[in-house]
Parts: sequence; C-alpha cells; structure tokens
Amino acid sequence: MGIDEAKKAASIKAVEMISDGMCVGLGTGSTVRFFVEGLVQRCLEGLKITAAASSDRTYAQALEGGIPLISDFKRFDITVDGADEIDGQKRMIKGGGGALLREKILASSSDQMVVIVDEHKCVNSLGRAKLPIEIARFGYLATASKLDLPGEFRMCEDNLYETDNGNYIFDAYLDSPVEDPQDMHLQLITIPGVLETGFFFNLNVTCIVGYEDGRVETL
Ligand code: A5P
Repeated sequence: MGIDEAKKAASIKAVEMISDGMCVGLGTGSTVRFFVEGLVQRCLEGLKITAAASSDRTYAQALEGGIPLISDFKRFDITVDGADEIDGQKRMIKGGGGALLREKILASSSDQMVVIVDEHKCVNSLGRAKLPIEIARFGYLATASKLDLPGEFRMCEDNLYETDNGNYIFDAYLDSPVEDPQDMHLQLITIPGVLETGFFFNLNVTCIVGYEDGRVETL
C-alpha cells in the first residue's frame, strides 16, 4: 500500500457519490485522475451524467472515456477535486496543478464540493504548501512586485508556465502557519493583475481522506 492506493481509495468513495442526472464538476490533479477513471467506468456501465472539466488535461481524459462534457454551465450538483492542503475548517490551498482559476469557478458554482485527498494533505494550519497566484501576463513583473511575498514564477522547462487561460502563476512562500488566510486572499485579490489565489474557503465541502493502509475517512 502506498500513496497512490490512498488516492485511489478516496476516489472510489467519491465515485460512489455520483448518481444519474447529476451535473458534475471535474477537478484536476493526480487524485482526480483516479476519480475520472472510476467515473468513466460507471458511465460505461450506464450512469447518465453531464460534466465540465477544470483543465485541458481533465477534459481530454473525460472526453476519451466518453463522459458527456458541457462548456456552458450555470450550476453543478457536485464538484470533485483534490487539494494541496486542507485544514480542520476545510480551508484549502489548491493550484499545485495550475488549474486554480477554473477550479474555483467550478467549486463556487457547485451545491457540494467533494475534496479527495491522501492523508498527507491534512494539516493543522495552512501555509506549508506554496500558494499559487494566477497573474495576467500583461505587466506580470509589476503585479508580482506588489504581492510583497517571497516566491517565484512557475516555470515549464526554460519558459514561464502558462495556465490553460494563458496566464502565469506566481508560487508564493508563506509564513507557516498563515494566521488569517481569508484576509490574505482579500488583500491579494484586490491587486490589479491578480486573477485568483489558491486559497479556497466558504464552500460546502465534504472531505474524503484516503490512508496508505487502505482506510477511508469522510469528514
Ligand atoms: C490542481 O490545480 C490542484 O488544485 C490539485 O487539485 C491539487 O494540486 C492536488 O493535486 P494532486 O491530487 O495531484 O495532489
């Protein structure tokens, strides 16, 4: 048993929560990949759903598996996504996979968000993980200087990493623990050029934690 088994165990539980007629938001990342695999299997067995994906990667996987995808949506019954960190109040840091903006649009448009994580993502307080901040390309150096945070622009080989929305990501190093993530988010999001931060909160979250010994806990 290892970390992939923990991710799979959480994913299987989330797949069981999907039922006929649901409109499902699909997150991004290595844990969600297992979830989409399971969902594809259930669709092959006759499950009738529609879904929208938070990244080109997830879109490609779902499309290949035959999940009916939509791009014009208003509301989801459920969104299933991973997290880089989640605390006891179900506040999260997300965006390690670079899809934070679309992930937040899906999560904030969903009646329920199911977060699937392995045990190592559960923390007492946020801040150990880097905080991804999506930044418009125009004036990106000027915008980054206003963040007043240590960190670096995410790279893809020798180039700046580009999100599916054509923006850049600044990965900020935080003081751990972050005293007030909400306040920090509000300060950052008001800077012109900052499009989204990786702090997620105020969502109706059910968290499914997979353990390396195969156990699953729903919080
Ligand atoms: C994608 O942008 C992220 O928010 C992921 O949900 C998060 O990084 C967790 O990814 P893993 O499941 O790969 O750890």
